[in-house]
Amino acid sequence: MHCMKTIDLSNKVAVVFGVANHRSIAWSITSILKGAGATVALSYQNERLKRSLDKLTADWDDPVLVECDVSDDSNVEKAFDEISDKLGKIDIVVHSIAFANREDLGGRFVDTSRAGFNLALEISSYSLIPITKYAARHMQDGGNVLTMSFQAAEKVFPGYNVMSTAKAALENEVRQLAHDMGQQNIRVNAISAGPVDTLSSRVISGYSVMKQAAAERSPLGKNITTEDVAKTALYLCSDLSSGVTGEVIHVDSGYHVMGI
Ligand SMILES: NC(=O)c1ccc[n+]([C@@H]2O[C@H](COP(=O)([O-])OP(=O)(O)OC[C@H]3O[C@@H](n4cnc5c(N)ncnc54)[C@H](O)[C@@H]3O)[C@@H](O)[C@H]2O)c1
Repeated sequence: MHCMKTIDLSNKVAVVFGVANHRSIAWSITSILKGAGATVALSYQNERLKRSLDKLTADWDDPVLVECDVSDDSNVEKAFDEISDKLGKIDIVVHSIAFANREDLGGRFVDTSRAGFNLALEISSYSLIPITKYAARHMQDGGNVLTMSFQAAEKVFPGYNVMSTAKAALENEVRQLAHDMGQQNIRVNAISAGPVDTLSSRVISGYSVMKQAAAERSPLGKNITTEDVAKTALYLCSDLSSGVTGEVIHVDSGYHVMGI
């Protein structure tokens, strides 16, 4: 009988995309990965968000902060080259990015514009592909890629609209990328998180209804926290999940199992 292993990521390098502020899911994941000993590089969308990261990382030794707007593949390639130049091999990548126009996150889904659809899918779904591809070039001993989804990929959540389509695409990518990357011992997984207050979730019309429904009707009878997500992220980014890839794990107080 083996003893339960403690999670030690002390010789691992993680790259986290999607920290906007202290409420971001990506920030909780960053904190837990650092707590387990990983060296964490952060990638930010633009100069405005860099200021937020400067404050959050004020007490880190030599933070590695790299700009990358994922709307351009060359930015993604450059970001990984820059991080690898500074930190060497990469072991873990967290994709915690989504975007849609505000007008596409409310009203009727049938009114989604072609441009709004393309934008939401490009930023929220497509971006996982170049991130995985360019990260893999720097992964020497296998690795882990993790992304963030929502149950609207499977069921209708009015107001979540085009982002539901984006999450359905994202979850499919997780399975196809798991297949491609398996030969390199790179695992690709997603967490389907319940509603939690962040910069992004607050702009979704119907968000408060989703949050209330999860609190009232989930088996655990409460909303999740970003720390709940981070703890599952730590499991997925560590050797404890060595046999798990192409998986979508719900961290939603069990809400997805309910029929009513
Ligand atoms: N908050 C929730 O209720 C919830 C539930 C399930 C899944 N998620 C998912 O979690 C992930 C993180 O969201 P969050 O809730 O922490 O919100 P957040 O606003 O803190 O994070 C979203 C991030 O996406 C980044 N981003 C957007 N467009 C980008 C671009 N072009 N290039 C680079 N980065 C870009 C933003 O800079 C921001 O850091 C998203 O995929 C979201 O859909 C959130």
